[in-house]
Amino acid sequence: MKKEMVKNSFSAAAKTYDSVAKIQNLSSRELVNLIDTPKISTVLDIGCGTGNTSLELYKKFPKADYTLCDLSENMLQEASYKFPKEAQIICCDAEKYEFVENYDLVIANLCVQWFEDLPKFVKKTKNHCSELAFSTLLDKSFAFYRSCFDRPPTFDYPSAEELLNEIGPVKKFKIGHYSLEFENFFAVARYFRKLGANLQSTKTPNTIKSQQKNPIILDYEIFFAIV
Ligand SMILES: C[S@@+](CC[C@H](N)C(=O)[O-])C[C@H]1O[C@@H](n2cnc3c(N)ncnc32)[C@H](O)[C@@H]1O
Repeated sequence: MKKEMVKNSFSAAAKTYDSVAKIQNLSSRELVNLIDTPKISTVLDIGCGTGNTSLELYKKFPKADYTLCDLSENMLQEASYKFPKEAQIICCDAEKYEFVENYDLVIANLCVQWFEDLPKFVKKTKNHCSELAFSTLLDKSFAFYRSCFDRPPTFDYPSAEELLNEIGPVKKFKIGHYSLEFENFFAVARYFRKLGANLQSTKTPNTIKSQQKNPIILDYEIFFAIV
């Protein structure tokens, strides 16, 4: 998906994101729990959205200096309203960002699945931080949702094995499963719109199977890693 579309979609959802970001918040917590470094003084939160991952991290490292980065100005505005201390703000495409300083920790919760070249991003970022913590979607995500279509949308998320092969050695990783239940497809569409995630990547129109029964389950398979 084009970066401009990702940006516009999240910008339009900046005011509604928090009302639906339940899985994203659980994922933030899980990712932050995976970090066992005792002292972190500088943090760069990539794809910070409305700032929930940094808020979670702030509970653990209140004295650290925070830099919040996102493609969307609207998201950054929401994040800076909420964040309890002054943070540096960088509005950019993180895949193109030229680092001007190094960080103890770079964190990216449920952002890198929008990237074009994750291995390149990991390699570049690792040259500028002691630790990179990220989470992303795996191939079993939305399996039930996809099974509801005659021509299922394709999302191109990798398997854990493919991801590990692509990015090389990690310090540790884990996989988590989460799900949400919706009464019908309209509710799923509303959810994605409020989240800013326009997930459908196939060009052909999909037909929902006529025998499809309620409810619609949206299952997330999330990969968490410390690199
Ligand atoms: C699903 S939200 C996650 C937000 C936040 N990390 C959280 O845990 O709630 C994904 C965020 O990544 C941002 N994003 C997507 N691609 C990006 C890129 N190339 N560079 C910077 N931010 C990006 C989007 O604008 C959006 O705010």
